[in-house]
Amino acid sequence: MERFAPSRIHFVGDEAALARDAAERIVRRLAHASRDRERLAVCLTGGSTPRHLYALLATEPYGARLPWPRIHWFFTDERFVPHDDERNNARMAIDALLDRAPVPRENVHRMRTDVADAHESAKLYETELRAFHAGGRIDKPPPLFDVVLMGLGPDGHTASLYPGHASIDETKRWALGIDMAGYEPYVPRVTLTFPALASAREMLFLVSGEDKCHAIARVMQNEDLPSARAHSEGELLWLVTRSARPAGAH
Ligand code: 6PG
Repeated sequence: MERFAPSRIHFVGDEAALARDAAERIVRRLAHASRDRERLAVCLTGGSTPRHLYALLATEPYGARLPWPRIHWFFTDERFVPHDDERNNARMAIDALLDRAPVPRENVHRMRTDVADAHESAKLYETELRAFHAGGRIDKPPPLFDVVLMGLGPDGHTASLYPGHASIDETKRWALGIDMAGYEPYVPRVTLTFPALASAREMLFLVSGEDKCHAIARVMQNEDLPSARAHSEGELLWLVTRSARPAGAH
C-alpha cells in the first residue's frame, strides 16, 4: 500500500467552505477535461457530507460554468433499497443536484435496486460502465472518470468497501454486490471496486464531522484502512473540515 502523503490533505473551514472548495475544483476539472473529451463522467458519493456540495453545484457561480449536456453521472456505491427510499444515495443526489440542473435523464446512471439482488445489480452496472468506457481499460489512459467523489466512514470505510471485507482486495471486477454493509445503514450494498474508482483524473475525498477525527488520524498514520487504500491514476486530494481535523494535524 502506497504511503499516505500528508500534502494530500487540505484542511478547510466549515461545511460551507468544503462545498465551495470542492465545487470550484470540480468546475475547473470539467472545464479543463471538456477541451479534449466530448463526454465527461463524474462519480458521486453517497452519505450526508456531499449534500451541501450537490446543492451548491446547481447554483451560481458554478451552474453556468458546467457543460451539463456532456456530463454523465455515476455513483460510487448504493444501498440496495428502493429508489424512492430516503436511504438511497442516488435519490439524495437527484433531489439535491440532478433534478435542479439541466441534466439529461439518460446521463444519470443509477445502480439498479429493482433487480433480484445486489450481485445482479453490480453485474449490470459493470456492463453499463464498460459500454460507456467503449471497451477501454481502467488501468490505462484515458481514465473512466474525470472526477470521483469519496466519503469516509468513522471506521475507515469508503464507498461500500469495509475494513476486513474481501471486496477491498478485488483487482478484476469493476463493481461488486455486498451481502451486508459493514456500517449503517445495515442493508446490502452495490459498490465500485478500487480499480474502477482509481480510474479517474481527480479523486476528491470530502470529510466533515468530529466523528471522523480518529479515522483521519489513522489514515495519516498509514493504517491499512480501505479509505487509505483509495488511490487515483490522476490526482488525489482530501478536503477535510476543521471539525474532523485530528489534534496536532497540520
Ligand atoms: C454510503 C457512502 C459511504 C459514505 C460514508 C460517509 O453509502 O454510506 O457511500 O461510504 O460516504 O459513510 O458518510 P457521511 O458523509 O454520511 O458521514
